[in-house]
Amino acid sequence: MKYANIYQSWQTDPQGFWLQAAQAIDWYKEPQQVLNENNDGFYEWFVDAQVNTCWNAVDRHVQSGKGQQVAIIHESPITNSTSKITYAELQERVALLAGALSNKGIQKNDRVIIYMPMIPEALIAMLACVRIGAIHSVVFGGFAPNELAVRIDDCQPKAIIAASCGLEPDRIVSYKPLLDNALTIATHKTDFCVIFQREQSVAPLIEGYDTEWHEFQEHAKPIDCVPVAGNHPAYILYTSGTTGAPKGVVRPTAGHLVALNWTMKNIYDVKPGEVFWAASDVGWVVGHSYICYAPLIHGNTTIVFEGKPVGTPDAGTFWRTISKHDVACFFTAPTAIRAVKREDPKAEFIQKFDLSCLRTLFLAGERADPDTIKWAHDALNIPIIDHWWQTETGYAIAANPYGIEKLPIKIGSPSVAMPGYDVKILDNSGHDLTTGELGSIAIKLPLPPGTLPTLWNADDRFRKSYLATFPGYYETGDAGQIDDDGYLYIMARTDDVINIAGHRLSTGAIEEVLAAHEDVAECAVIGVSDELKGQIPIGLICLNSGTQKPHGEITREVVQHVREKIGPVAAFKRAVVVNRLPKTRSGKILRGTMVKIADGEDYKMPATIDDPIILDEIQEALESIGYGRK
Ligand code: COA
Ligand code: AMP
Repeated sequence: MKYANIYQSWQTDPQGFWLQAAQAIDWYKEPQQVLNENNDGFYEWFVDAQVNTCWNAVDRHVQSGKGQQVAIIHESPITNSTSKITYAELQERVALLAGALSNKGIQKNDRVIIYMPMIPEALIAMLACVRIGAIHSVVFGGFAPNELAVRIDDCQPKAIIAASCGLEPDRIVSYKPLLDNALTIATHKTDFCVIFQREQSVAPLIEGYDTEWHEFQEHAKPIDCVPVAGNHPAYILYTSGTTGAPKGVVRPTAGHLVALNWTMKNIYDVKPGEVFWAASDVGWVVGHSYICYAPLIHGNTTIVFEGKPVGTPDAGTFWRTISKHDVACFFTAPTAIRAVKREDPKAEFIQKFDLSCLRTLFLAGERADPDTIKWAHDALNIPIIDHWWQTETGYAIAANPYGIEKLPIKIGSPSVAMPGYDVKILDNSGHDLTTGELGSIAIKLPLPPGTLPTLWNADDRFRKSYLATFPGYYETGDAGQIDDDGYLYIMARTDDVINIAGHRLSTGAIEEVLAAHEDVAECAVIGVSDELKGQIPIGLICLNSGTQKPHGEITREVVQHVREKIGPVAAFKRAVVVNRLPKTRSGKILRGTMVKIADGEDYKMPATIDDPIILDEIQEALESIGYGRK
């Protein structure tokens, strides 16, 4: 069947469509009710089903005779090691850790924070939690203790599972001091921590509170999967919103299983048994969906890669890994390809490896710029497929459904809406725009299975953030347009979220840190274009009158504060002092105009600006730090 027919079949009978997709999942109790509207007016899928994620991702493959197939390959160019775990071994290890957690009182609904680098134990911890119905929340290693503390206080975990360290190319990041610091900042107290000791930095443990990973499991017995309701949260994943407080995206169990499994064949066009590699991090949604859950649910082999696109050891590391492990489908962020292209513009590394195994390269996480797509296509001679999604959805809203029909690729577009998503372009009053017109991208409710039903403990915030602007629609926060063939073009965010190297960060959160500096009276953070990372944040600060400290000292301090409070991942390296910030007459800071100035683009003088002269001052200030020249 062609894409158009499948999309149409979903439109005609959405519930039938997903019920059919649900046949590929093992249920303890099959869903009778497909879609429900709950008391809050929120939608939920497969509520009355009983199911377990770990059973579907691990045990059922062992039961069906695939126990000896490799489930996880760990490839670490940083430690120069490779290891493999079969489905049978994975089942043993996950069941044992789940047993140990259960012995320590972790039960269905309890939250567990996972703070681990790219090692298989991170996936084992995630799977052990879902095995017993505990709700995990993975926190990315590049966040500072304060961000970890915010997440601890919000989801109130009973336990934390962490590693002693992560490995960056140039340094060992000791996680334990960061974790201890976070636990001091947080008001919520956890019962215990399990620490996976890595030889690169063995952490001192706190007697009676921390237990070493192996010791923790020493007397445990493997435990079976615990059935949970279809709408039971499999996990909470925090993502950036407009303010400093991250949003806890809730992932419902059954819909997640059904939808992710559907995408593996229909979008990524892989068969069970093939090797699928998403070069991301388990701390992000791509890592949750496509390093851990989807490939395992679908019976593929997944790769946990501990390295960077370049420098570990060189710009050939992706191609070496693909060739070595017979990767059929590779998924990464455009920024990673840009990093490779910058080091190896002639793609000489690609010539060195037999890449005949690789059929497709999928890109997501940020806008895929045409140069990057063209370079990758010329170098690899395979389809380079952009697809668009968000932490909130957990899988692609728009893609080229390669397993259904290989639609023509239009460079600059992530192609067409996937079944489940009725995507509209709306004007400010919520009216449909016609093709080619730029507007807010919204999705008609209900969203499909697996997408967020709400935010953790924050129904009102969920309503305000996503449902209030356009009644009857989910507001994506992205702006764009649609063409005559139904291809989407994602142009910009409509909120204060910026995208740094495929990582989503809030300018509002960075502003909160700058504003807390004793000498800062007012500030604005903008995302300016960056050749490698797509965007990077720049701070403009106004000082309190009478401040004596040299400006250079203050800007250095605010840069350091952001690193300490949010983390190195924010890549906040530049701030500049200005006398005033440009504002509308009603006092709104004109961030968009400043972005245009910083990027050296033409801009229209905003009609509502209170004093146009300020823009010249901003231009001058930005030029002083290397931005804003045409
Ligand atoms: N733990 C601790 N620190 C981390 C970290 C982690 N897991 N990940 C990143 N950091 C640190 C880095 O060491 C760096 O610190 P520095 O300021 O001291 O140099 C900072 O955070 C920024 O890291 P990164 O974004 O990796 O930038 P980089 O300049 O080191 O590398 C790229 C640039 C493009 C190679 C890199 O950003 C990259 O691989 N991007 C792909 C991103 C991706 O896969 N996104 C997934 C979304 S689909
Ligand atoms: P995250 O929740 O971290 O996955 O970030 C989601 C946001 O990243 C989206 O709302 C977009 O702004 C951006 N994004 C993700 N994929 C794409 C894409 N293919 N093209 C353009 N923007 C994208």
